[in-house]
Amino acid sequence: MKKIINLGLIGLGTVGTGVVKILRDNLSLIEKKAGTKVRIKKICDKDFKSSRKIKVDKKLLTGDIAEILNDPEIDIVIELIGGEEPARRIILEAMKRGKHIVTANKSLLSKHWDDIFSSAKQNKVAVYFEASVAGGVPVIQSLNEGLAANRIKSILGILNGTTNYILTKMTKEGINFKDALKEAQKKGFAEANPELDIEGIDAAQKIAILSSIAFGAWINPGEIFCEGITAITKEDIKYAREEFGYILKLLATVKNTDREIEVRVHPTLVPVEHLLASVEDEFNAIYISGDAVGETMFYGKGAGQMTAASAVVSDIIYLSRNVYNGIAGKVPYVTYQRDKKVRIKQIDKIETKYYIRFSTIDRPGVLSKISGILGENNVSIASCYQKERAVSREVPIIMITHKAKEGDLQKALRQINQLSVVRAKSKFIRILD
Ligand code: HSE
Repeated sequence: MKKIINLGLIGLGTVGTGVVKILRDNLSLIEKKAGTKVRIKKICDKDFKSSRKIKVDKKLLTGDIAEILNDPEIDIVIELIGGEEPARRIILEAMKRGKHIVTANKSLLSKHWDDIFSSAKQNKVAVYFEASVAGGVPVIQSLNEGLAANRIKSILGILNGTTNYILTKMTKEGINFKDALKEAQKKGFAEANPELDIEGIDAAQKIAILSSIAFGAWINPGEIFCEGITAITKEDIKYAREEFGYILKLLATVKNTDREIEVRVHPTLVPVEHLLASVEDEFNAIYISGDAVGETMFYGKGAGQMTAASAVVSDIIYLSRNVYNGIAGKVPYVTYQRDKKVRIKQIDKIETKYYIRFSTIDRPGVLSKISGILGENNVSIASCYQKERAVSREVPIIMITHKAKEGDLQKALRQINQLSVVRAKSKFIRILD
């Protein structure tokens, strides 16, 4: 039995530094839980000059990845450099050499699920990735193990802290999107490229990982319908909340329907009384519904140095325990059948309720024209609202629909947008059913 489990850390950035801190401050607790000694043997980064606000023994540092990959004593490689390459090559190479992996890399895992988990199986190593979704919230373990007995009926996730922070600011302070984004960037939880946050790509990668676990098959994020929050106005947020009792969230949704699954990321109006409506600022929440357990919700911070490091170190503890007991990688951590394919429902086939805002001139007969077209396309109106009156300029008319097929709604809106009384492209937001 190995007496010491040796770690090779790749990437001493924000999260890497947090991992070193926890391993330093909580080592005796960590070793008790792991049942063995745990040590960082090497840390690789391309630049150690920038201040990390942590003292590290210089002998541990290297700029050469081969010093980790070629070291037979290193049992676990912790990949914290992010991005696809060279992270993918490094992880695959480390697995070939029998090393187990801990990673926080959502982009890599979601896009290369097949490569990574096929290689893990082939090389009989384990890949742990708790920090890849919702940072410190232990949703991967919970879904993979704690809820394993269930058929997962649906997962609703607020998975991106930056956009939740922006939407909270827009809702509570009535500021516009651009100003709210600037504040989120100052806070430091936005991605280096904030497009990944505001266009919903980050959330799509995270829901791809959760869905792949839930359905035991790879859900490729490239196939997930994804709409960000850049077109959201403070006016829509206000109307939806004040007149109809909805709070706007960027929601990642996966639903298990009969033969297909629905998986999508888009702004969604959530009834104010739903638990997800009260998730504010940079917090994340994942609402999982299982056939046996019913409804569960996981809540916490999804970004930040110590929250992500907390998840990485938990993975290190459980992997170290398994390495020590000689069982790491003997059983795959996630169930993955390479040949299992899951069909994803196209967005025009989904059925939900909608908030629609029309910009029209205020003239008799406008409403009947619009409602006529909606009716002809099987879209039924549940309520309608017009507050302002103005003869010389356009006014907003808001409608909430009953459940309708998205293809039908899109067709109706194309026809309505052609009307001469309609002054701007009609906007719609999906409502949580
Ligand atoms: N940019 C991400 C967020 C960080 O805002 O949630 C964590 O993945």
